Amino acid sequence: MDGSRPAHIGIIMDGNGRWAQQRGLPRIEGHRRGEDAIMEAVRACASRGINALSLFAFSTENWDRPDEEVSFLVNMSRAVLRKRMEEFMELGVRMRHIGRRDRLSSEILAWFDIAAEVTAENKGLNLSINFNYGGRREIVDATLGASAAVKERGLKAMDIDEDLIRRHTYVPELPYVDLLIRTAGEMRLSNFMLWQAADAEIVVTPVLWPDFRKDHLEMALEEYRHRRRINGSDL
Ligand code: IPE
Ligand code: IPE
Ligand code: MG
Repeated sequence: MDGSRPAHIGIIMDGNGRWAQQRGLPRIEGHRRGEDAIMEAVRACASRGINALSLFAFSTENWDRPDEEVSFLVNMSRAVLRKRMEEFMELGVRMRHIGRRDRLSSEILAWFDIAAEVTAENKGLNLSINFNYGGRREIVDATLGASAAVKERGLKAMDIDEDLIRRHTYVPELPYVDLLIRTAGEMRLSNFMLWQAADAEIVVTPVLWPDFRKDHLEMALEEYRHRRRINGSDL
């Protein structure tokens, strides 16, 4: 595979609140305007032949936000899936939800399931929405899955290795994250794909998520190529 292009891009979409605040608008306006950035990133990745794009849309920690903001974010995800399904099909995008199902209403889960089913045969970009997602929780869940497999197959605890844990992560068929982008300047992982992004190149941009456009993505890809040239040519 062409090592100068990432197989899997993860994006921590941050800065919606600040975007709104700067304009004297309620925070939810920032989330609303993030939709354009989402669609532009999806189109750009699909047209560049990127294998996978995972978007951090709602963390397990985000439940602590005010109820009104939480319900806006849940409803927005559902509305985006519904509204954009046709375009996802045209782009050949395969959709997945990554995260825990508990605490999510049956309505939003139904939309995640419909989107996954309808796009299951698409061969283009693997688009994942990390919603109600926490990286530590995923590692705990993968460990539980691995220990159940050990018991079932009459193996020993010693037989647990990286490959067995990997096979029990939420979406083991995706390649690992090799480029992790975070907007709004924070240099934190905020519990995003801890297992998958262990070796990722991290690119932090000061751009707030609603302002993120394909040129910013292009700059991140250029930075990735540059780092691979100087550090990773023997990988
Ligand atoms: C990212 O923007 C969106 C979510 C976390 C859901 P924020 O809402 O965190 O925006 P800031 O960090 O307050 O600017
Ligand atoms: C990370 O952003 C979560 C998502 C982008 C969904 P946050 O704004 O919630 O993270 P912290 O609180 O700054 O770490
Ligand atoms: Mg934030």
